[in-house]
Amino acid sequence: CGIVGIVGQYTVSERLVDALKRLEYRGYDSAGVATITEGALHRRRAQGKLVNLETRLKQEPLGGTIGIGHTRWATHGASTERNAHPHFTEGVAVVHNGIVENFGELKEELTAAGAEFQTETDTEVVAHLLARYRREGMRRREAMHAMLKRVRGTYALAILFEDDPSTIMAARNGPPLAIGHGDGEMFLGSDAIALAPFTNEITYLIDGDWAVIGKTGAHIFDFDGHPVERPRQTSIAAADLANKGNHRHFMEKEIYEQPEVIAHVLGHYINIMENRADMGSSIDFARIPSLAISACGTAYLAGLIGKYWFERYARLPVEIDVASEFRYREIPLSPQSAALFISQSGETADALASLKYCKELGLKIGAVVNAAESTIAREADAVFPILAGPEIGVASTKAFTCQLAVLAALAIGAAKARGTVTEDEVQALVKSLAETPRAMRQVLNTIQPEIELLSRELSKCPDVLYLGRGTSFPLAMEGALKLKEISYIHAEGYAAGELKHGPIALIDENMPVIVIAPHDRFFDKTVSNMQEVAARGGRIILITDERGAAASKLDTTHTIVLPAVDEVIAPMIFSLPIQLLAYHTALFMGTDVDQPRNLAKSVTVE
Ligand code: G6P
Repeated sequence: CGIVGIVGQYTVSERLVDALKRLEYRGYDSAGVATITEGALHRRRAQGKLVNLETRLKQEPLGGTIGIGHTRWATHGASTERNAHPHFTEGVAVVHNGIVENFGELKEELTAAGAEFQTETDTEVVAHLLARYRREGMRRREAMHAMLKRVRGTYALAILFEDDPSTIMAARNGPPLAIGHGDGEMFLGSDAIALAPFTNEITYLIDGDWAVIGKTGAHIFDFDGHPVERPRQTSIAAADLANKGNHRHFMEKEIYEQPEVIAHVLGHYINIMENRADMGSSIDFARIPSLAISACGTAYLAGLIGKYWFERYARLPVEIDVASEFRYREIPLSPQSAALFISQSGETADALASLKYCKELGLKIGAVVNAAESTIAREADAVFPILAGPEIGVASTKAFTCQLAVLAALAIGAAKARGTVTEDEVQALVKSLAETPRAMRQVLNTIQPEIELLSRELSKCPDVLYLGRGTSFPLAMEGALKLKEISYIHAEGYAAGELKHGPIALIDENMPVIVIAPHDRFFDKTVSNMQEVAARGGRIILITDERGAAASKLDTTHTIVLPAVDEVIAPMIFSLPIQLLAYHTALFMGTDVDQPRNLAKSVTVE
């Protein structure tokens, strides 16, 4: 969810919505704003995307120079207007990002004491607790402090009290929260980008902090209620909302941007690699005994490809898991090791929790992030930016290939530092990396008509299977994930060699099997697995390169032929057809490509 607040001199409702637009990537199930006018709290809420709230506000405008707003990704309670934030209880308005873990217990206690709950959300207990403490005679700050002592879980909160039309209260434990300093106005937001049109002077709250924000400044307290100072910094977040240019969707634009952003990020890292053995960081890649990698979603799959590279080139054993498992597995990790956390947003709750876990164990922490000012970047010892620029489409495309570019460069840099490859081999690998943008451009310039044809077919299928070996295995999973996310077609990504151990039972003449097979060390093995599919009448869609197409004598339903490239860059090049296949299939399905149902781009709950 995304949160905003303005303690202003002028009407705030339109500006709140403007800020919420920049936070819509955090969820779009419902949205709402609340202000105080003429001594009373008022709100407008709407189910679904922000445009619905905008329409509501046009029909029924909302005055007031102080207000809070919210865009929701539902956790507890359906995404109805009734469950939309802000929640109101007896003169208290609350917006919340996170999960109140003990809400069941608190709800029971409050209900027993006479509270009447209006919604199914966990957030409402916050409003009721505050209302109760006020009724019991506590002052606003006391009530706030007392409420925070009762609530367990994660939160970014913004709160209005009807009897104080000049202050917003805020608190953070987990999801990020930034205070913006304006000229006679103060702001609050889930990130600096939301506040960029108003101010670039930002103070980040840290976990356990809460704040009282007035028109001219903010008082910040720690969890025990002691006043604390937090640094004020100038944010580099850009005020302009990225636009789609000539593209139909952000996703399409981001796919086509890849040659350019990959050239940029590779240039950056090749330069460092040639000059610094430690890749310009505090991580000593030459000495660490192993590496841990953790991430979520697409970033996790990038990490899985990275594992193949670190192990093969740098002879560095890699422990990797999705962050939601990693953080609880009690993995015996050596404090001499390093851990990499990969995250486009740099805010994903599970990745952050895994990071903190490794930090406590004493490992050196590296962050592979797109958002340079994010929490994960700030918590890390070494930041490896992926330099992809803003990614707006919820389904990750250019961030994925830029993550791959950074991981490839880091693995080659580590190999060089560890002496596990010769200088000639390093030169050859770097030369291959440098070929990536050109090969990407060539693919993007030629492939679309064929992909469209194929996508029309895929859009008629209920299930799709993706297969691959080596680094093409995680890519098969990424292909399946992309298709699921935006076209809502069920898809699975499997290691080609595992096919015979179960999924082969699914093969019939209706089931499309997309085989990702560059002409690499595994090609012949993958072809054998394709034979197994063909023998059972399966529909094979082969994505290979020129050498693979010439070598394979197999009858496929369709073969997509890419230029032959070196093995190390194949995952980046082969990402393009799988991204475009998902995109065009989604177009045929008529789904909301940039904001698919039930998803959010940044997930700050566990
Ligand atoms: C969400 C998004 C995914 C993304 C994942 C990790 O689930 O919908 O597309 O891969 O989070 O996000 P991160 O910002 O940590 O890379």
